[in-house]
Amino acid sequence: MAKSAPRYACQECGAVYPKWAGRCEACGAWNSLVEELPRAGPPKSLAGSRQGGQALDFVALTGDSRGAPRHLTGIAELDRVCGGGLVPGSAILVGGDPGIGKSTLLLQAAAAVAASGGKATYITGEEAIDQIRLRARRLGVADAPVRLAVATSVRDIAAALDTANPPQLAIIDSIQTMYLDTLDSAPGTVSQVRGAAQELIGLAKRRGFVLVLVGHVTKEGMIAGPRVLEHMVDTVLYFEGERGHQFRILRAVKNRFGATDEIGVFEMSDQGLVEVPNPSAMFLAERAEAEHEAGGVTGAAVFAGIEGTRPVLVEIQALVAPSLLGTPRRAVVGWDATRLAMIIAVLDARCGLSVGANDIYLNVAGGLRIGEPAADLAVAAALISALTESPVPADTVVFGEIGLSGRVRPVSHSDARLKEAAKLGFTEAWLPARPGARSRRSADGIAAAPIGHLSELVDRLAPAERRRPRRIAAAP
Ligand code: TYD
Ligand code: MG
Repeated sequence: MAKSAPRYACQECGAVYPKWAGRCEACGAWNSLVEELPRAGPPKSLAGSRQGGQALDFVALTGDSRGAPRHLTGIAELDRVCGGGLVPGSAILVGGDPGIGKSTLLLQAAAAVAASGGKATYITGEEAIDQIRLRARRLGVADAPVRLAVATSVRDIAAALDTANPPQLAIIDSIQTMYLDTLDSAPGTVSQVRGAAQELIGLAKRRGFVLVLVGHVTKEGMIAGPRVLEHMVDTVLYFEGERGHQFRILRAVKNRFGATDEIGVFEMSDQGLVEVPNPSAMFLAERAEAEHEAGGVTGAAVFAGIEGTRPVLVEIQALVAPSLLGTPRRAVVGWDATRLAMIIAVLDARCGLSVGANDIYLNVAGGLRIGEPAADLAVAAALISALTESPVPADTVVFGEIGLSGRVRPVSHSDARLKEAAKLGFTEAWLPARPGARSRRSADGIAAAPIGHLSELVDRLAPAERRRPRRIAAAP
């Protein structure tokens, strides 16, 4: 048999090349190709030798399934993000920047499971036992009977977990430090991460325990190298947050057992992560303070959003300043820059404003990242408010999707958004017009002001005579 040729795998996207190159053609990453040994021989086609396969045992959709109940960790935000507890036999990938709090959260989860009588194992390849113990003491969970070990060999870990009485929860921190001695590549390479994960996930499915893999994230926001991991696990959770803020958001981006885009909100305290059961109040806390100081704040609008299954109110802030030279600057935190460009274009083309010639800064307060197009109208409101220096009334929430024509499109879960707004003391909502509906008072006591076209929002915020032209850059 021919000796297997070396191959080079991109550590960012997993693409494979026969030759080394400085740049991966598939994803454009520089210097990301690493030599890895291929699997023994290319896969052979089954055609022509199809005899010998065993008959499959087909069954009906209904029937006696093992359906073991989900494990509740006791950390309500974590359980909710996972779709109502951890599913036995499933694999969960927890990704996030270094230092964001992954190890802290998972140690708390392991301790909570252990403290409530479950069996929880925490295997670290990154830290020493003493460091973990120190953290446990700081978190006040040192008494919980968590089984702790330092290991990096998947063979050893598998031997420990492949028993008739496995733990309910096994945490591997992190998958990039693990290695499989049957592969020649270094730990952290795509083939090692893939191989190690495959081994452990197979074991979790066979033995029915919950496997949590911690994964590091690169600057680009991908789990380093092993994008492939996302396909292998059942649930992918990202732990996000601005380093300067104490808020941390755990977001489900994939979940075979629950809603995606579900978020759990935590606050990093000196005793670890504390759950925030009412994130809207938290995200708007700074706003309340700001309002005491100034009468009306321009360039801010409260967006009534939905994250997963939960309504979340958050303030969107915009700053529009004359552009001094060259190409106007755009800086966006917490939202999609392309979508911002689209809204600016619609404001310019359909509403006769010249927003686009200015420097524009957009920020979602509190470190939340919004993905919903329903935020369009709130972003537009913040922009118009900043440009015309007319505040959005403090007791108003805004939501709606904007089309390229400037028309405001209805969005889902209107009622849940209004209910949350009412709960937090808002009294008015600017929302998409529904055919046939006029201004009406919703059941929750919120006055609904329908907006059919973006220009109506401009008129509402800044009637023509009040628009201040000085901020508007002169049209060429
Ligand atoms: P860690 O869980 O080690 O992050 P990761 O595993 O994602 O790399 O979190 C480390 C950070 O959390 C560190 O900056 C200190 C902070 N921290 C607290 O603020 N309070 C605490 O009680 C603990 C344990 C950590
Ligand atoms: Mg860690």
